[in-house]
Amino acid sequence: MTSAITETVPGDTQGLTWVPQASVLAREAGAQLRGFLAEGVATEYKGDVDIVTIADRTVEAYLRDALLRTFPSHGVYGEEGTRDRLDAEHRWYIDPLDGTTNFAHGFPHFAVSMGLEHRPPGLADDHDGPIVAGIVYDPMRDELFSAERGKGAFLNGKPIHVSKVPELGEALVATGFPSRKRHDNPNIHFYQEFTLRSHGVRRAGSAALDLAYTACGRVDAYWEFNLNPWDVAAGFLLVEEAGGMVTGFDGSYRRLESLEILASNQLIHHELLGLFRDIFAGKNLGPLLSPSEYAAHRAAREAISQPEDSADL
Ligand code: IPD
Ligand code: CA
Ligand code: CA
Repeated sequence: MTSAITETVPGDTQGLTWVPQASVLAREAGAQLRGFLAEGVATEYKGDVDIVTIADRTVEAYLRDALLRTFPSHGVYGEEGTRDRLDAEHRWYIDPLDGTTNFAHGFPHFAVSMGLEHRPPGLADDHDGPIVAGIVYDPMRDELFSAERGKGAFLNGKPIHVSKVPELGEALVATGFPSRKRHDNPNIHFYQEFTLRSHGVRRAGSAALDLAYTACGRVDAYWEFNLNPWDVAAGFLLVEEAGGMVTGFDGSYRRLESLEILASNQLIHHELLGLFRDIFAGKNLGPLLSPSEYAAHRAAREAISQPEDSADL
């Protein structure tokens, strides 16, 4: 069993238990990602467009070893296959590189994500323990988002809060699309409706940063289908500790294994749940020209604006 006292960094004024040491590891992992980006790395395919690089694997191996060394009683569960000490009372969910597609294309928006679950003795295998610490590190902007349960959320050590935007009509929102089974995913319909009803939808390519940006008010809400625990464990806590709300699309409690996530500043959550209900039911959808209707309108416009003599040529 892990004692909070043994893992508290001496002299840490904010009284944080895991974040100070874990932040050092996240920063080192981020530095490694920056190095790989500068060198350039080859990509391999895990699925049709789901890619992985040497950076994903190397940084996961680094984080695994470093976490097991730094927190000897903790377990680690990582995207690239790490499954160590999963019977431990504390378990890190790590995504060494969230935003691999961006990384592989040199698009400088990706992050290291590390979330710590506390699984008290006796907790059933199919129940979640609370997430007690979370770190999302963006190595390109040197932005480290962190939180511990009950102690607030921070960006580079300064407190962060969700936005105060009161309605979707004034909101900037974020989403993402999966790189597997893309034809089975209906998110483009949701993207359309949210685009018509908000200041806009950003699809920046890192779920961990989408949640961190919700936590610090850069976006007012974020949703996505088909996520994994390593994508969201850290960001989930960031949003809650920054005063926001995280649920499923129907407002239900969100488990780590739940695929769907809706995070918001809390103020617009109710409105968003109503919109999800409507979209799933095909109700009150925004009117939008189809591409063929648009092409017909354009052809009609061009015919009208055509000078008569040039039409005779
Ligand atoms: C992906 C990113 C992306 C999200 C995908 C994730 P990865 O993670 O978070 O924003 O839309 O669903 O799989 O594969 O880059 O670690
Ligand atoms: Ca990910
Ligand atoms: Ca990843």
